[in-house]
Amino acid sequence: MNTKLTPITQDSLTEASALIQSGQLVAFPTETVYGLGGSALDAQAVLNIFRAKERPVDNPLIVHIASRDQAFPLCRWTDLADTLASAFWPGPLTLLLRRTEMVPDVVTAGLSTVALRLPAHQGALAFLRACALPVAAPSANRSGRPSPTTAQHVMEDMDGRIPLILDGGASGVGLESTVLDLSGEVPTVLRPGAVTPEQITMVAGSCEVASSVMRPLEVGERALSPGMRHRHYAPQGRLTLVEGEPEAVAEAIIGLHDAQPEARILAMHDHIPLYDNRPVNDLGQDAADAAHRLFYLLRSFDAQGVPRIFSETLPPTGLGLAVMNRLARAAEFDIIKV
Ligand code: TXA
Ligand code: MG
Repeated sequence: MNTKLTPITQDSLTEASALIQSGQLVAFPTETVYGLGGSALDAQAVLNIFRAKERPVDNPLIVHIASRDQAFPLCRWTDLADTLASAFWPGPLTLLLRRTEMVPDVVTAGLSTVALRLPAHQGALAFLRACALPVAAPSANRSGRPSPTTAQHVMEDMDGRIPLILDGGASGVGLESTVLDLSGEVPTVLRPGAVTPEQITMVAGSCEVASSVMRPLEVGERALSPGMRHRHYAPQGRLTLVEGEPEAVAEAIIGLHDAQPEARILAMHDHIPLYDNRPVNDLGQDAADAAHRLFYLLRSFDAQGVPRIFSETLPPTGLGLAVMNRLARAAEFDIIKV
């Protein structure tokens, strides 16, 4: 199959919607990461998504919509969902709600809930409006690779597997959406993202964070979100995180790096002077910068065949929780405390 990469125009939107309506796949930009879309109402199209990504079929997909009205036939909508949607949609928040019969089993991996998201990206919204149906879309990477934050990343992973990639520039947020379970008593974050537990608490009155967000699953433990079970966000080089006071962290990383000079260092901008002219990859000024850059940097390390990576950590508050969740998983929880 020939994979076409095209900017978002009236013509490419027409082509994209025709593909989706005929059960084929289209990759599209969102403010978080690029998605690999297929009709959420077409079980065969959804199976094709799993195949193109090489994703295990027990890991359910997010259904993307262009308006709140599109959610109503798919789920049991609640007052709390309405409050949260008013506050955070369009935006990087995915809501888990009881599903209806309209959603094919393959979308939800047979679970009783469906994940719904209304993205805040003009290109994504134009695409979803043109399709005029709900679009199931995981991140457009091959399973186990960092999520794509540019159309070129999608091309690296999907060339020859899908007919069309819509190019909407680099994703602003750079990390996947917050997944919030609304099927229980208390709203619970299963995957942290740019809509933070602190923000959700302000609107919903309460918010819990699943304990599995910042630790590996124990043997035999049931994953609340099946995505947590699978190896995720893994760069090809081994990644180790070093946690502690900035000076002590830099000293430890310098020692590790000098014993293995082909290793790369990830550090916050203000800490770079602590590394005495060693080559450091800049995570930026704050958690938002780090979120925006993380997958991009991990992918560039893969492209260069970097065998070893050492990274600083961030405080796990606000957007820092999402960055640390991805970093800790990419490191397979190899964290040195100094
Ligand atoms: O930002 C995003 O969310 C991106 C863009 C494309 O919208 N999408 C994305 O999809 O990250 P994906 O498939 O890579 O991640 C979806 C996550 C997985 O961890 C999956 O297990 C979880 O959401 N999920 C989906 N439906 C679920 C359900 N019914 N119950 C529990 N977890 C669910
Ligand atoms: Mg993904």
